[in-house]
Amino acid sequence: MVKLAPSILSADFANLLDDVKKVENAGVEYLHIDIMDGHFVPNISFGPIVMNALKGKTKLVFDVHLMIENPDNYIEEFVKAGADIITVHVETCTHLHRTIQKIKSYGIKAGVSLNPATSVFTIEEILPELDMVLLMSVNPGFGGQSFIESTFEKIKKVRTLITRENLDIDIEVDGGINPSNVKMVVDSGANVIVAGSAIFKAENINERVMEFRKNVL
Ligand code: DX5
Ligand code: ZN
Repeated sequence: MVKLAPSILSADFANLLDDVKKVENAGVEYLHIDIMDGHFVPNISFGPIVMNALKGKTKLVFDVHLMIENPDNYIEEFVKAGADIITVHVETCTHLHRTIQKIKSYGIKAGVSLNPATSVFTIEEILPELDMVLLMSVNPGFGGQSFIESTFEKIKKVRTLITRENLDIDIEVDGGINPSNVKMVVDSGANVIVAGSAIFKAENINERVMEFRKNVL
């Protein structure tokens, strides 16, 4: 079963809860929460305060994507703000195993994300510890960018590694996904789909979510 994870980066921040309710009512599973620090990525989004404001107001799974340096320092704060899954970037973690154990010590799920230029082999050793691998299909930092085509092959490589080790790990793909390319993303082996602008900038969010669904189910 493919899960949809709308990214609130493209939501209307003046009416954030309204937008969250719209995607929840449309039947998505996750809420993708992009945290950017202006150091690891060239953009600043928002922090745990904003996330905390949504806590308890929706049943959606809080899927937190940390695009920040020194993520270890902030894990606890994001757990308190309601994170169900925390994903860190391999490029920001010198002691990735330690960081993953720290996330899991709070009883939540742990993921690792790879930038488009980062090899899948950087996570080969940590794979058995993970709940999710998040493959970036754009260079992180902004919504509304175009999907990088080489991601299809990369998804297949990660799916092969997971199958070879007989593991049960989600593959999430993030960036430039829309109803036209989502089928290829899923056919390549992804089962969690992030979509920011394609969902929140749609004229009718409900219809757009249905378009995504009919292309992958
Ligand atoms: C990019 C973020 C994405 C972004 C996706 O750095 O991690 O989650 O919001 O937005 P779209 O779907 O518009 O590419
Ligand atoms: Zn993201």
